[in-house]
Amino acid sequence: MNKVKHIAIIMDGNGRWAELQGKKRVKGHEVGATVVKDITTYCSNHKDIERLTLYAFSTENWKRPKLEVEFLMKLMQRYLKNELPIYLENNVRFEPIGDLSAFSKSLQDTIHDAKEKTANCDGLIQSLALNYGAKNEIVRAVNRLKNQPDEITEEMLSNELDCKDEVDLLIRTGGDCRISNYLLWQLAYAELSFTKVLWPDFTTEHLEKIIEDFTKVERRFGGLK
Ligand code: FPP
Repeated sequence: MNKVKHIAIIMDGNGRWAELQGKKRVKGHEVGATVVKDITTYCSNHKDIERLTLYAFSTENWKRPKLEVEFLMKLMQRYLKNELPIYLENNVRFEPIGDLSAFSKSLQDTIHDAKEKTANCDGLIQSLALNYGAKNEIVRAVNRLKNQPDEITEEMLSNELDCKDEVDLLIRTGGDCRISNYLLWQLAYAELSFTKVLWPDFTTEHLEKIIEDFTKVERRFGGLK
C-alpha cells in the first residue's frame, strides 16, 4: 500500500460554484477559503500526510479583473490572520511558496508573520502557492545557481526550488484535466486525480476516497514491479 506524504491541490471551480447559485464569483473564493481550513485540519490529523501544497494564486491570476484580484488579496490576508490559531492548535507549519515580492508590503508582512509564528510547529507543512508559477520557480532557481562553478545536478536544482519535496498525489477540482503551470518539477512521478467537484463543495470525504484509491495504485517510478 502506498503512503501519501505530499498532496498538492489545484483548487478550481470557485467562480462557477458561485455563479451556479446566482452569487458573485468572489463568494466562491470566500467559501473556498473555509474549505482550505477544513482540508488543512484534516491533513494535519492524518498519520501519513507530511505536506499539503495548495495553489492559491498563480502568476497568471493577475490577468483577472482588478476587483477580483483585490478581493483575493484581502481574503488571503484575512485568512492568514484569522486562521493562525488553527494552524498553531494543529501544529501546522506555514511555508509559502512563490514570488512574494509582487504583493503589497502589508500582505507580505502578514505572510511572513504566519511563517514566523508557526516556525516551531513540527506537524504538517502547509504551503500556499502565492504568485506562484512553476516556470517562474525554476527560472528563479536557475538564476541563483548560474554563477556557481560546478555542473548543475538534479539535486542542486531541486534544493533551490521553493518547494523541495516531490509530490505523491496531485488533485485538481473543477473538472479540467490540466496542470496549469503548477509544480512541474515536483510532479514528475505524482499520481494525478481530477474530479468534477467544485472546490467549495470539496469535502474531507472526497479527499479520503481519493487517498484510498491512491494507496492501491502500483507506483513503479519507471522501474518494473
Ligand atoms: C480557482 O477558481 C481558484 C483560484 C484562482 C483561487 C483559489 C483561492 C481560494 C481557494 C480561496 C482563497 C484561498 C485562501 C488560502 C484564502 P476559479 O475562480 O478559477 O473558478 P472557475 O474556474 O469556476 O472560474
